[in-house]
Amino acid sequence: MSKRRDFLKKIGISSSLLSLGFIGSCSDSKNVSSNSQAQLPLFISTWNNHKANSTAFNTLKEGGTVLDAIESGIHVPENDPNDTSVGYGGRPDRDGYVTLDACMMSSDGNAGSVTFMSGFKNPISVARKVMENTPHVMLSGIGAEDFALQEGFEKINLLTDDSARALEEWSVKSKYAPKINAERHDTIGMLGIDAHGDLAGGCSTSGLAYKMRGRVGDSPIIGAGLYVDNEIGAATATGLGELIMKTVGSFLVVELMRNGLSPQEACKTAVKRIASRYNVDDSQVGFIAVNKNGAFGGYSLRSGFQYVVNKSPQTELFDSSYLL
Ligand code: GLY
Repeated sequence: MSKRRDFLKKIGISSSLLSLGFIGSCSDSKNVSSNSQAQLPLFISTWNNHKANSTAFNTLKEGGTVLDAIESGIHVPENDPNDTSVGYGGRPDRDGYVTLDACMMSSDGNAGSVTFMSGFKNPISVARKVMENTPHVMLSGIGAEDFALQEGFEKINLLTDDSARALEEWSVKSKYAPKINAERHDTIGMLGIDAHGDLAGGCSTSGLAYKMRGRVGDSPIIGAGLYVDNEIGAATATGLGELIMKTVGSFLVVELMRNGLSPQEACKTAVKRIASRYNVDDSQVGFIAVNKNGAFGGYSLRSGFQYVVNKSPQTELFDSSYLL
């Protein structure tokens, strides 16, 4: 790769724009979107979840709310048995249980979450029901599962043959070593803003492969894996949840935007905060954010993180800027 191409990649210019030669250069402190009139609605997701984004876009086009759109978009990786870090087909913990975490936040500031939940393909929808049909924000474990059954969700076995085989191979050495950019997609975090500027978000994951039984990461924790403030903007996270939880990362990103930083600068500042306080050897963390005007950005600890944006049915994939 040429030095110029390498530099452009490091500051976060998308592969597609590079190959089309659309972009000359861009300051790291400015998001490409903030240089132009924001085009709404807009959906942004962690990793290359382009099908999730286009599903969300279609739901909105067909008359759904931005929250409906996020929920339908997140169903895409949750239902995909080949996506090994979200929903059905997610890798199990070291005891062979697939346990899922998810949360949603709506534009009115409401929130719902499920953690350590087994046996249901779409934790994002159960999280939405927690938000809408209970006085609580979070249900966990057996309580979340009982609630899902009461709400009419179907109980299934989430452990695919492929995941069972992978666990067997892992069990030979049983070495606990979370991988950077695991399977190159990890958690899905999705943020959306509709044509009126109303925001919503969701986050769903099976967490770290071969985690300790009972481990819950950042993804279902409001403020860590996801935060939406309809006056300011929204942020979501991916990567090693322990680092994100200790810094309440997504809330931090939104608060930094409240203090005037662009989404890109806010994500970068949060990543720098993590790197300055904790041992980040062998870890990846990535944030994406969108503000009330539809400007967006993303930033990660290391190379390899990508995020995908839809401002129309077409998707655009971005190689995130990174710190180390
Ligand atoms: N970010 C997903 C997790 O750590 O579980």
